[in-house]
Amino acid sequence: GAAVSADISKLEPGQLIRVEWRGKPVWIVKRTEQMLAQLAETEDRLRDPGSEVEQQPTYAQNRHRSIKPEILVAVGICTHLGCSPTYLPDDFAAQTEGIRSGFFCPCHGSKFDMAGRVFQGVPAPANLVIPPYMYVDDNTILIG
Ligand code: FES
Repeated sequence: GAAVSADISKLEPGQLIRVEWRGKPVWIVKRTEQMLAQLAETEDRLRDPGSEVEQQPTYAQNRHRSIKPEILVAVGICTHLGCSPTYLPDDFAAQTEGIRSGFFCPCHGSKFDMAGRVFQGVPAPANLVIPPYMYVDDNTILIG
């Protein structure tokens, strides 16, 4: 399939944009400092904090699961049965007892942190998939 390019020059901290790649929604999120700091707080509540269940691109084998720490690129499809989780930049705490930002799947209640890592005790078996991507320049991501 064709690669898709995304311009992130106007992406604000906390903003999520969607691009379509091979018929799938891909999210690009510019994480805030607070969102990045939270990634250390979620780890003891995650099913697979190191993304060992699902094979990930080597550049995603880190806590932020991305090439640049602040930019998350992930396939926006729940790993349970394929619904599209909702981005909750400020309203996630009610779902997670205190973690402020994340993704909530309305279909059966799966929860993912700001690196797309799945919480324990929900139906989704694995973290959100990180697609193949690269930076063409500082403001341009090529997905695929
Ligand atoms: Fe997301 Fe079931 S499809 S929890």
